Amino acid sequence: MEDLNEIDEIVVTGGRPLHGTVRIQGSKNTALPVMAAALLSSGTSVLRECPKITDVFLMEKILRELGAETWWEDHDLYLDCSHADGTVIPEYFSGKMRSSVILLGAMLGRNGKARTGYPGGCVIGKRPVDLHIQVLQKLGARIVENGNEIQATCGKLKGAEVIFPKSSVGATEQGILAAVLAEGKTVFTGCAREPEITWLCQYLTGMGAKIEILENGSICIEGVKKLHSGSGTIPPDRIVAGTYLMAAAATRGEIILENPPIDEMHAILEVYRKMGGQCHRIGGKLIVNGKNAGFPLELLETDVYPGFPTDLQSPAMAVLVTIPGVSRIREKIFEDRYKLASWLCYMGAKIEIRDGMAVVHGGYPLRGCIVEAEELRGGAALVIAALAAEGVTRIRGCSFIERGYEHICEDLTALGGLLIKDRGTL
Ligand code: EPZ
Repeated sequence: MEDLNEIDEIVVTGGRPLHGTVRIQGSKNTALPVMAAALLSSGTSVLRECPKITDVFLMEKILRELGAETWWEDHDLYLDCSHADGTVIPEYFSGKMRSSVILLGAMLGRNGKARTGYPGGCVIGKRPVDLHIQVLQKLGARIVENGNEIQATCGKLKGAEVIFPKSSVGATEQGILAAVLAEGKTVFTGCAREPEITWLCQYLTGMGAKIEILENGSICIEGVKKLHSGSGTIPPDRIVAGTYLMAAAATRGEIILENPPIDEMHAILEVYRKMGGQCHRIGGKLIVNGKNAGFPLELLETDVYPGFPTDLQSPAMAVLVTIPGVSRIREKIFEDRYKLASWLCYMGAKIEIRDGMAVVHGGYPLRGCIVEAEELRGGAALVIAALAAEGVTRIRGCSFIERGYEHICEDLTALGGLLIKDRGTL
């Protein structure tokens, strides 16, 4: 329960086009599974360019709870897992973050048993873990769910043929983390193909795992007896890069993304161009010009990679409310990811939610007021809307935003936005 005496706000003064250069942080959704991978070795692994965000700090706390030693040298995170033989993640920790659940596979691979409370995470849908349970059972784990925790045991995991009935990033990561030390060969089909899966496989291969990703997206793993410590650089975060690109469009500004993962952003850039944005690359930089953003979207559908990412659906909505005309958004990954709409309407936008779609009647002026972030990407979208609004907006619940954005205030202020973090007590 939030302490009503505590202020946890970002104060944004809107109405100025963004301009300038910004560097993109490391990817949250790559760092978290790679941290779990470190548990599979008894050495000291390093994650370079790791984002300093609360989800990473929480995963660090959980690994320490399991017996790891962790420390930072600037943005390099060191994980000494020589004594990380713990097998229980208390509900106090697991309930705070979705990613805690993928530690099951890593703990089973290392110790042959694991217990965790059910994962928490953003309230964007039911977010079941049935696919996680199924993949571990297929690899030989015995799973007992007793209402508020998941207990898993196995002698030694055994390689298997596993077909995912639907694409799941977390369940794919779960299976990979469990299979790399299993006996024999595993073939996963129907895997998620998000870049974070490829990065995880690359990091594990560097630890001595035998993994092959086939053309059709299937993943073949030959179990090995032991893995040595890992070392690798976390790639830039495509969702953070996309968030800043949408902020440039919403404010009709022009910015330079210094180090975006352009090759992971084709669907994002395609939507941006459809809105009227221009962008071109110079070396590794991306020049993003939102001055001519003014075209509503007949239909924007989120999809699994390489489709338009669900994590940018809310930021895109915050742009479309500034564009005159009717745009339609269909969220196809999560069943409750339109929470942002009511806050945008409170700021003056006109949005109808019907038949599973958000129908945006864009072009109504946004006015600054007090709004509340309810989850990570909706919170980031409120920052975008506030930058486009006239006047001052106070965004409460900025701790949600800090789960995934290392320095969103500093970054957007450096781009000419006026954002102040307001921390303190009334
Ligand atoms: C990961 O969540 C990301 N989180 C999410 O980012 C991202 O939105 C999502 O993948 C989709 O790309 C991290 O990587 C930490 P899923 P995850 O399993 O793994 C259903 C952010 O803002 N499903 O691919 O939880 C599920 O309900 C976060 O950074 C089951 O039915 O997503 C959803 O409808 C938000 N059973 C769909 O699959 C399961 O066992 C895709 O979920 C698992 C998932």
